[in-house]
Amino acid sequence: MLESLKKRIKAMLESVRRRRNERQIRQSGRRVTRAELARDLARMGVARGDTLFVHSSLKSLGYVDGGAAAVVGALQDAVGPEGTLLVPTYYLPAGTVKATCEMEGYVFDPKRHGTNMGRLPEAFLARAATHRSMHPTHSVSAWGRQAQYLTEAHHQAPSIFGQGSPWQRFVGIEGAKVLGLGVSMGPVTFYHVLEDALGDAFPVPVWEERGYRLACLDQEGRRCEVPVRPFARALSALRIDYPGREDLRAYFRAEFERAGLRVNGQVGDAQAWFIPAQAFFDHLQRLATENITIYSTPEQLAARPLAAGTAAAAAARAL
Ligand SMILES: CC(C)(COP(=O)(O)OP(=O)(O)OC[C@H]1O[C@@H](n2cnc3c(N)ncnc32)[C@H](O)[C@@H]1OP(=O)(O)O)[C@@H](O)C(=O)NCCC(=O)NCCS
Repeated sequence: MLESLKKRIKAMLESVRRRRNERQIRQSGRRVTRAELARDLARMGVARGDTLFVHSSLKSLGYVDGGAAAVVGALQDAVGPEGTLLVPTYYLPAGTVKATCEMEGYVFDPKRHGTNMGRLPEAFLARAATHRSMHPTHSVSAWGRQAQYLTEAHHQAPSIFGQGSPWQRFVGIEGAKVLGLGVSMGPVTFYHVLEDALGDAFPVPVWEERGYRLACLDQEGRRCEVPVRPFARALSALRIDYPGREDLRAYFRAEFERAGLRVNGQVGDAQAWFIPAQAFFDHLQRLATENITIYSTPEQLAARPLAAGTAAAAAARAL
């Protein structure tokens, strides 16, 4: 009784907070529409038939008429019915993978559990997704032609990003692109595909020793167990998405631009970018052979300098 009252109060406060923020952004941001966003995506090179893995910041786009649902609509318009959208709808009820693994009695239910990955993933899950992978920490949602293929085997994958996972299958699809809308090169899950593909050959030990098996339900309510190994805690402050690693984000941006793989554009008011998936994977693999990974220390970066001016220029404009 007390618990449910607490939940209701929390939800009410959250809704008040959201309304206030939306009002603020409506007053200060440029108004952008679904049609304009779809046009911008096409202009930067997103094509019909593409398969996009989308990482986003809604507020970076300006004030979007229709909110996150309109952005989802624009993405659907840009890739068309022959295309596919993949969105991270991860659910981490304890905040981190490790803490979630240690929760007692946790059973992931794709029908009941939402996502804590932001407003676009929430809207996608609620309105557009036709498929959702069965995974207790990294459930991915999808819409479009390849939606089933990309999500159907996640619970059978030997690791979160391993064989059969949405990312591993995504790499092999023609027209697959990782798309960032108003985000830096920090919150990009795709990096981990290489770690799981190389296993012990990856230059950094990224996983904790201990693995867990977490319970999940499928769409019919059948239960299965999925292996999950948490990220090594000692590396978290080095990783590219750690707030203090602007240097590494700037380095990766400059590196992928220099390699001609990162395509930049503007979508609404946001700086946007995409990198084709197979080329992204191949280049990450090449970098790993030179000891450059998303965990590289400033010293390792200094030992492999980018072309003169590139890093500094990128750092200056890094998101
Ligand atoms: C963390 C992150 C989500 C924050 O971005 P954000 O724009 O502040 O958050 P969201 O995308 O959830 O958008 C919500 C914000 O949009 C704004 N907003 C609300 N209505 C809006 C509208 N109609 N138009 C534009 N902005 C609006 C509000 O400021 C809102 O903030 P609030 O939730 O605090 O009220 C983003 O930086 C990020 O990292 N995205 C990638 C996440 C991801 O893919 N993670 C997986 C890999 S690790």
